[in-house]
Amino acid sequence: MNRVGLVGWRGMVGSVLMQRMQEENDFAGIEPVFFTTSQTGKPAPNFGKEAPPLKDATSIEELSGMDIIVTCQGGDYTNEVYPKLRESGWKGYWIDAASALRMASDSVIVLDPVNRGVIDRALDAGQKDFIGGNCTVSLMLMGMGALLEQDMVEWISPMTYQAASGSGAKHMRELLEQMGALHGTSADLLADPASAILDIDRQVTSTMRGGEFPVDNFGVPLAGSLIPWIDKAMESGQSKEEWKAESESNKILGRENNPVPIDGICVRIGAMRSHSQALTIKLRQDAPIADIEAILREGNQWASVVPNEPEASMRDLTPAKVTGTLDVPVGRLRKMSMGNEYLSAFTVGDQLLWGAAEPLRRMLGILRE
Ligand code: HSE
Repeated sequence: MNRVGLVGWRGMVGSVLMQRMQEENDFAGIEPVFFTTSQTGKPAPNFGKEAPPLKDATSIEELSGMDIIVTCQGGDYTNEVYPKLRESGWKGYWIDAASALRMASDSVIVLDPVNRGVIDRALDAGQKDFIGGNCTVSLMLMGMGALLEQDMVEWISPMTYQAASGSGAKHMRELLEQMGALHGTSADLLADPASAILDIDRQVTSTMRGGEFPVDNFGVPLAGSLIPWIDKAMESGQSKEEWKAESESNKILGRENNPVPIDGICVRIGAMRSHSQALTIKLRQDAPIADIEAILREGNQWASVVPNEPEASMRDLTPAKVTGTLDVPVGRLRKMSMGNEYLSAFTVGDQLLWGAAEPLRRMLGILRE
């Protein structure tokens, strides 16, 4: 049975990973060893399987004893530990949620419902590093990957609506604090049915712009507003989040040498943990909507098609509906006024599940097959 070292299991992505591994009984097939950066020697958690006391996550010696390491500890940890571990001669499999190794030439970005072939070829070639993709990219490919696999797409422009969780747990809390502050400042006026909405709005805006508004994490208001920039600036004028769309998607699909252009604008909005994106897709040639819907439906068991109707779209194509599930619905499918090769689509998915934890636990499963 594989000795699997688990690092960063207590954080937000790690906790979702542990939950999913429990739900799917993954612990039964492994010998888990839990690592820590601060509590070496303390009892390990029990997710239905006994494990030895917590081991030091910076100990190359302890890590070297693992057949597989799964880390959700973050990029700084990867950058610090991974090179030393490989230099020590460790030949095990490294499965990582962080982006640090994603674009390395000997890494594979894992999203097996979309790129199982790429993963299998990498395993056959002896590759050892399997890295989870950016959440927005993974969710777009879970929804739309089938069209790319069929080489029907000339380019995609995704405009994203990304949840607070993509920034981290503290940001989710801050979003709620901001929402509470806006409600608190307007509660008296709201309680009075005769109050004027423009007075309420004035009060809310003044609170949002005031010095007491909680913005330590986001830096600016998100509740009642949005943030049209995610991650660092690139020389291209893109944000790094925007840059990832094309680079990671094509790597996932194994078509770095024949890339599909994918570029748009990434925006943070006040959703909790589900990312949405509106896509403009230039098809290589006209294809009937019914054929496109059938291809998307058959793409994988988690993608579904929501009819392009108001009730279904408002009910089934939202963060409120999909959060906490593995469903990746795709809707708003229609030809655009620019021409029959221009397809619009809207898709949404939980960024902690398919966007982070799920591809990692499935990669662990593939290694155990
Ligand atoms: N970078 C993503 C975001 C989350 O900020 O929403 C992690 O993939």
